[in-house]
Amino acid sequence: MQPAWAPLQNLPGSPPAGDEVWVFSFSTAPGPHLDGLGPLLDDYESQRAGRLRSARARAEFVNGRGFLRLLLGGLLGHDPRGVRLATAGNGKPVLAETTGLPLFFNIAHSHGMGLLAVASHAELGVDIERLRDVTDRASLARRYFHPSEVICLEGLTGEAQQRLGFFHAWTRKEAFLKATAVGIGFGLDRVEVTLEPGHPARLLRIDGCEQTAAPWTLEHLEPGEGWLAALALRAPCGKLVTAHADLAKMME
Ligand SMILES: CC(C)(COP(=O)(O)OP(=O)(O)OC[C@H]1O[C@@H](n2cnc3c(N)ncnc32)[C@H](O)[C@@H]1OP(=O)(O)O)[C@@H](O)C(=O)NCCC(=O)NCCS
Repeated sequence: MQPAWAPLQNLPGSPPAGDEVWVFSFSTAPGPHLDGLGPLLDDYESQRAGRLRSARARAEFVNGRGFLRLLLGGLLGHDPRGVRLATAGNGKPVLAETTGLPLFFNIAHSHGMGLLAVASHAELGVDIERLRDVTDRASLARRYFHPSEVICLEGLTGEAQQRLGFFHAWTRKEAFLKATAVGIGFGLDRVEVTLEPGHPARLLRIDGCEQTAAPWTLEHLEPGEGWLAALALRAPCGKLVTAHADLAKMME
């Protein structure tokens, strides 16, 4: 059963306990609250935001990084702007400071909705996609999916099931590739996942090897009607806490 996405009442003051994992959704829409979130970004992020041409892309970035800084600042007990971030792999934001306790996190956004996932016990990645029509879906699947996944996808009956199956596979693969920090350059087809709607999310094989995939957990997420998401974690997932953060309200 899908966890509920109740409103996040307060920013947590201590990190996820044990094998608990948090996934918070948020709107990435522009609004006056960005006047409060923008100044929380560091110089690098502010410059990056400034280079983004569209207001939508800027709002997506500022909402995500502003929320990340508010959350991490609260957990680390200091000013959000002072949170030091670095990049790992092919650009994954990670904490640059040693906190005594590791904090793993990852951001994703799609068409107005963002996700921020946090854990203390294992590396993770998250991906979200708006369920939408993709005209060249069959050819994208043949190009980027593993042959066994293509067979499974083509075996699904009806447009709705095929569309769901496609986005299940896409979000699960990308969540895994984001957890490793390598990104899609690794090759989506090297990662085999379950994709049948209604079946549990599982990472089946990496480069054909079940043993390499075994430490990984995949979680299927439905953060809002019309969106699909996935969380990949290099460990078992204990309690999964999902909530919606109203950033506009938080910045009032
Ligand atoms: C990471 C990647 C999968 C993101 O894909 P996307 O669907 O465009 O974007 P998403 O919304 O899912 O995720 C974006 C967020 O992921 C995070 N991110 C960036 N690079 C990441 C990486 N290598 N691993 C994990 N997370 C990453 C960032 O927080 C980013 O958001 P922000 O910059 O606004 O904070 C993709 O950009 C990628 O593969 N990058 C690595 C570069 C690479 O390998 N390129 C090869 C091209 S063939």
